[in-house]
Amino acid sequence: MRTQVGIVGAGPAGLLLSHLLHLAGIESVVLEARDRAYVEGRIRAGVLEQGTVDVLNDTGLGERMNKEGLLHHGTTLRFRGRNHHIDFVDLTGKAVTVYGQHEVVKDVIAQRLKDGGRIEFEASDVAVHDFESDKPYVTWRDKAGKDQRLDCDFIAGCDGFHGICRPAIPASIQQVYERVYPFGWLGILAKSKPVQEELIYNNHARGFALFSMRSPEITRLYLQCDPDEDIANWPDDRIWEELHMRLAGEDNLRLPEGPIFQKGVTPMRSFVAGPMRHGRLFLAGDAAHIVPPTGAKGMNLAVADVRYLSRALESFYGKNNSDRLAGYSDICMRRVWKAQRFSWWMTSLLHKFDERSSFENEVQLAELDYVVSSRAAMTSLAENYVGLPFEEQK
Ligand code: FAD
Ligand code: DHB
Repeated sequence: MRTQVGIVGAGPAGLLLSHLLHLAGIESVVLEARDRAYVEGRIRAGVLEQGTVDVLNDTGLGERMNKEGLLHHGTTLRFRGRNHHIDFVDLTGKAVTVYGQHEVVKDVIAQRLKDGGRIEFEASDVAVHDFESDKPYVTWRDKAGKDQRLDCDFIAGCDGFHGICRPAIPASIQQVYERVYPFGWLGILAKSKPVQEELIYNNHARGFALFSMRSPEITRLYLQCDPDEDIANWPDDRIWEELHMRLAGEDNLRLPEGPIFQKGVTPMRSFVAGPMRHGRLFLAGDAAHIVPPTGAKGMNLAVADVRYLSRALESFYGKNNSDRLAGYSDICMRRVWKAQRFSWWMTSLLHKFDERSSFENEVQLAELDYVVSSRAAMTSLAENYVGLPFEEQK
């Protein structure tokens, strides 16, 4: 089998890359370890930056997102039991859209299949070969148990943090930066009407809580917990009780309860591996970098990477120009590090750190006080949250 770009991973990065390449007249094949139902049902991120929304709209993927997505003009920071509104539109002229990552994934898969695209689900033992030469190839075992080989010009490693592409790059060539946080997020989906129209990022002495949503009937909630928390220790009653305690305050905010139909624990880390290219292997999305979820940057970074990568490949095939491919890692990294800084800062601002002294706790609250009372500080938060502008490649 032969194609131009072999893509490993059918998450947002791999799928969107194959769609963008298709629009540029470039062929690809996507190899995915899981089955379609699993990929389409995996609950993860929910906030799309304006730039992500623009990419989806500009490439014909916006129809359902525009109908079902919720446009948020701002967000709430809550501390000492009181809400403080940050108005993104007033501060930056931009907004964000709440639309689940798995909905984006469903939309791109449907479009790829409609356009005759090739996604090989349930591909096991995927391995990447000879990407230091100009004849790379990928091997795997298909779902019928048959060994397969895909020859290609380039390989895109879009296989997430636990994938095989990043480890295939010699360690001597890669620099790794990492910070592991001493907590995780316990996330739930509940059939309960959102208590207000916008998200609430809540700082509390018992730990961080985030109120979000997926639709006018579905609430998405997160609680700061131990990184290795056993979800079995969290029956629904305990989750609601903890949420009520963390969100309580002088304004008597009370979440309406409802049946919880999805639960999970995510550990939190900041991670960057670079450069994002070695020979003809290009990494994109979580395969190269992970952010803690506070700030909702993970999926948006994946989209930005493949936007750059598809343009670089377009310039290679259309104009026989490799400059953009050569600059791919640098242009991505500049954005990645700004998102890392922002996600780390939001995480530090909002979570309870057991090792912090009472002095540091007071400094955290003072910083929150400052952020919500200074237009300059609110603007800085808002412009990072709605997404920094894409840098244009030469
Ligand atoms: P992924 O979505 O991880 O896609 C990688 C794909 O590659 C997967 O489909 C995987 O099955 C496949 N794959 C892996 N290994 C192989 C292999 N060997 N062979 C073939 N295929 C392979 N971000 C937020 O902003 N907010 C959140 O609330 C949030 N919650 C998250 C919860 C969890 C549990 C995780 C893991 C991430 C979360 N993120 C969140 C981050 C966000 O979801 C990711 O940044 C985003 O999914 C990145 O997309 P991606 O395509 O790069 O990687
Ligand atoms: C959601 C996730 C985030 O990480 C975030 O910062 C905001 C919202 C969500 O899943 O809705």
